[in-house]
Amino acid sequence: MLDTELFDVLQLQLQGKRKITFLVGAGLSAESGIPTFRDVDGFWTIGSKNYTPQEMGTLQMFNVNAHQVWNWYLYRIHLCQRARPNSGHFALANIQQLIPERFALISQNVDGLHFQTPLDLSQLYLIHGDLCYMRCSANCSSELYPIPIELLARGEQPHLRTDEVKLLSCPKCGELTRPHVLWFDEYYNQKFYKLDSVLRIAKETSLLFLVGTSGATNLPKRIVDTVLAKSSVVVDINPRENEFTRQLERAKNGYWIQGKSGEALPMIEAQIRLFKSRGS
Ligand code: APR
Repeated sequence: MLDTELFDVLQLQLQGKRKITFLVGAGLSAESGIPTFRDVDGFWTIGSKNYTPQEMGTLQMFNVNAHQVWNWYLYRIHLCQRARPNSGHFALANIQQLIPERFALISQNVDGLHFQTPLDLSQLYLIHGDLCYMRCSANCSSELYPIPIELLARGEQPHLRTDEVKLLSCPKCGELTRPHVLWFDEYYNQKFYKLDSVLRIAKETSLLFLVGTSGATNLPKRIVDTVLAKSSVVVDINPRENEFTRQLERAKNGYWIQGKSGEALPMIEAQIRLFKSRGS
């Protein structure tokens, strides 16, 4: 999976001082049994109509049918609660321990699986929010509240019960809360989604690993463009072609490891461990 050219690139990069950054997407959690966004057509039915995740996960849908949007998220939270991190998640935590001063993890995943590994969360940047938290839909404050534990195992139900709506009310103003996630019709910001922090990290990155992402959203594209513009190295780990494939083919420092993250990341970890043991 790691050809000699990439092996040499990795060894050279490890002798540097700048950031080695991992930008991960839903593909990292695919081997934990959590469906990705674009690989499966996970519809959600309201009445007689099917809705895609891209339709359900919007402020527009929340404004029209907040209870059904919450109903869908509580179902997804249940899926995530049942999932466990896979070898890819643990390899990332191990890599961080090998190169703590250079490591950065930018995650599009809201499934909470990073928190079930020994990862030092100070180097984790969740750019799409976190399903385990909610915040006031009336924006009375920026406070994040954990999803009430009674709702985490609720699973798929036809609608929200009155007592559940009460549990989902803002503790400060009583308005309904909303999931702390970036919706498809919303914009990145620093306050909730670490926008400025990750763009700064991209500028400091000499080696960027893309892991399990289709490149469908614009911040990952901005990060890749920033890293490539500084003639740094970008390695894409994905079993299939994606939005970045052509761009990396054209780039001098673009590479594609065609494989699953649960296999490729432990290999990357092993190479880094070997180089470190040799003092390189
Ligand atoms: N290992 C690595 N990659 C995988 C694996 C695997 N085992 N299985 C699937 N993939 C790849 C797919 O080939 C695809 O390119 O993971 C990618 C998943 O793409 P998406 O479903 O689009 O997920 P992601 O890129 O994270 O979506 C970005 O868009 O839908 C919004 O907010 C949502 O965070 C999400 C964002």
